Amino acid sequence: MDKHYDDEVLRVEDLTVYYETAEGTAKAVNNLDLVVRKGKTVGLVGETGSGKTTTALSILRLVPDPPGVIKSGKIILDGMDIFTLTEGEMDMVRGYHASMIFQDPMTALNPLMTVGDQIAETLRIHEGLNKADSIAKAQEMLKVVGIPPERAKEYPHQFSGGMKQRVVIAIALACQPKLMIADEPTTALDVTIQAQVLREMKQLKEKSDMSMIMITHDLGIIAQMCDEVAVIYAGRIIEYGELREVFKDTKHPYTQGLFDSLPKINDTREMLQPIPGLMPDPMELPEGCAFAPRCKYATEKCKQGLPPKHYFGDTHYAACWRYEDPEFRL
Ligand SMILES: Nc1ncnc2c1ncn2[C@@H]1O[C@H](COP(=O)(O)OP(=O)(O)O)[C@@H](O)[C@H]1O
Ligand SMILES: [Mg+2]
Repeated sequence: MDKHYDDEVLRVEDLTVYYETAEGTAKAVNNLDLVVRKGKTVGLVGETGSGKTTTALSILRLVPDPPGVIKSGKIILDGMDIFTLTEGEMDMVRGYHASMIFQDPMTALNPLMTVGDQIAETLRIHEGLNKADSIAKAQEMLKVVGIPPERAKEYPHQFSGGMKQRVVIAIALACQPKLMIADEPTTALDVTIQAQVLREMKQLKEKSDMSMIMITHDLGIIAQMCDEVAVIYAGRIIEYGELREVFKDTKHPYTQGLFDSLPKINDTREMLQPIPGLMPDPMELPEGCAFAPRCKYATEKCKQGLPPKHYFGDTHYAACWRYEDPEFRL
């Protein structure tokens, strides 16, 4: 369990989520703890299949059931214990308290409504604006995400995939939720637009003191957007800390491996050192530390029990057996 703060917007404790299918049980999220404080952006970074989206869906109680089953855990969002709420109460929570930008924009837009009306409707519901003001503000929001305001009159099918995603981001920002969960929000956008949209998201977030979970596999986006970083591997957070701590004083061998596999700007040889091996299949997690089979520091102990969180400061920890040895350094 993580330390308690007075300004917590989200607390996730011991979250375990499985997908039970005919092929077997995928242990997608395992005993995950996470705290997001007011105004902070926490980055959730990890490879495909590490449980990022499942964690996000759990917070909004959107894990598809079946096959998804919440095996354990408690989620306190803005003071509410969300697993105890009714479906009606959850509808209010989604949007007012937390809203999510999905990886795939197709499902998030109404094909029968102009994009301007969709943003304006959100503004009327969440900010109580009248019709004229909401339409004017909707056009402003489109400008924010780099879409000419006159396109407010168009329907989703008239936009490209990247443009649709920008509309989705505008709608999510218009809600001004306490917590914004952005699941790889800019992966589909080209790099120039991506940088612009991220900048705008950051500014709007700061203006409204919103909290955010930024989900990505891109360490550059983490560096640009986040105050704190959670590195997730096989459904567990294996390193957590402030951005500076995780980037400058990396403790977990897996996090180290992620950094080593980035192309170095000054290195003309472009020697990438990808971590050998693959993340284990969540249907066949090994005993002990899930990273041990790929870890050059692993000992017998690593293959036996789950590694405890080893703290290096107030918030910075690595779940790694090797730090039981006081001599161990990366
Ligand atoms: N609807 C589903 N049915 C069965 N397995 C799923 C489903 N959604 C996700 N999974 C499995 O759960 C694991 C975690 O997936 P996910 O949370 O989407 O990871 P990420 O977002 O980090 O890529 C993966 O092994 C994935 O195959
Ligand atoms: Mg995902």
